[in-house]
Amino acid sequence: MTQTQQWDESYIAHTYSRFPITLVEGKGSILKDDQGNRYIDLGSGIAVNTFGAADSQWIEAVCQQMQKLSHTSNLYYTQPAPQLAKMLCERTGMKKVFFSNSGAEANECAIKAARKYAAQTLGKEYTNIITLAGSFHGRTITTLAATGQEVFHSQFQPLTPGFLYAEPEDIAQMEQLLEENPCAAILLEPVQGEGGVKALDFAYLQQVEQLAKKHGALLIVDEVQCGNGRTGKLYGYMHSGIHPNIITTAKGLAGGLPLGATLFDEKTANVYQPGDHGSTFGGNPICCAGAINVLQRLDETFLQQVEEKSKLIAEMLTGARGILSVSGLGMMVGVETQRDASKIVEECMQKGVLVLKAKNKIRLLPPLSISIRHLVQGLQVLKTVCAKQED
Ligand SMILES: Cc1ncc(COP(=O)(O)O)c(C=O)c1O
Repeated sequence: MTQTQQWDESYIAHTYSRFPITLVEGKGSILKDDQGNRYIDLGSGIAVNTFGAADSQWIEAVCQQMQKLSHTSNLYYTQPAPQLAKMLCERTGMKKVFFSNSGAEANECAIKAARKYAAQTLGKEYTNIITLAGSFHGRTITTLAATGQEVFHSQFQPLTPGFLYAEPEDIAQMEQLLEENPCAAILLEPVQGEGGVKALDFAYLQQVEQLAKKHGALLIVDEVQCGNGRTGKLYGYMHSGIHPNIITTAKGLAGGLPLGATLFDEKTANVYQPGDHGSTFGGNPICCAGAINVLQRLDETFLQQVEEKSKLIAEMLTGARGILSVSGLGMMVGVETQRDASKIVEECMQKGVLVLKAKNKIRLLPPLSISIRHLVQGLQVLKTVCAKQED
């Protein structure tokens, strides 16, 4: 163990089990550790580094802003946040944005807004929010409650009340929950990430939208992981043609800086009034400058390339030896393997390729800008490791 690793073990709360490498620098989809080892990055910091490490255009945009103004309070106007909000609204058809710092905060903001909206439009008892089994919405007490996985709940009771869970793709159960409980909203990930990289059926999403409308409940999509170009469209819900009332996002939005965003449609745009919500760092000029650069570059041509790379990934992995199935959407890929996924992650790392896990699957979230050459090299290693016979 190096001194850095010892200090980490001694002084940082043990919330993460880390792999025994210390990453120190990178360029694009290549990362280097402190021993000079080189890795092909197929995880992008869990869907954060949209354009990989140390992207020069992004650095320039961020540094330019840093030299002008890195922070002020939300008591004053700044230039980057409104420019970014306008871009987000124009690209989604939404009407207003609240900026925060993370996915959990973006979801907290959506949940508070949904409860306030429901109290005003349906009645005070309309507090319930339906989420899906296997979902993941964050680590705060409320977003843990929203997360439909018992394993995250047990040690932190009591969680925020008012969350109900439906099985994904079971529209009858969703309808029953809406009929039997006064509900403010339905919250779901168009592609479940932590839950095992499962894309929800487009027809199911359309049915959920209809049901939400029928019951006056809001539809909130959590695009924290599957948003910002990851699936080949700007946001994952766009594949199904639904129109959510609220969109939440974070991770890849600012390409490596902490930024959360909650987008509101016409109905919900004015729910929040001064004093209802806030965040010291929300809309931070540096993070917003990073996000403006990211969004400008996620144009149709680039998204088409994401689509093409996603096809290449599916072609290379589907039916390969030791691979049982390939799931997901775009460059958000789940790989069900014959061998234990944890062993595969470790062996890939030893062979210079960084991959992630989601439940019992290998999860791939490469930088969207990864070159075909690095993508193919990384996937070749993964295939070799998956095909290996156990000793
Ligand atoms: C779908 C989804 N929502 C919310 C979150 C929480 O985001 P953060 O860790 O930025 O709070 C995550 C994180 O993995 C996520 O995947």
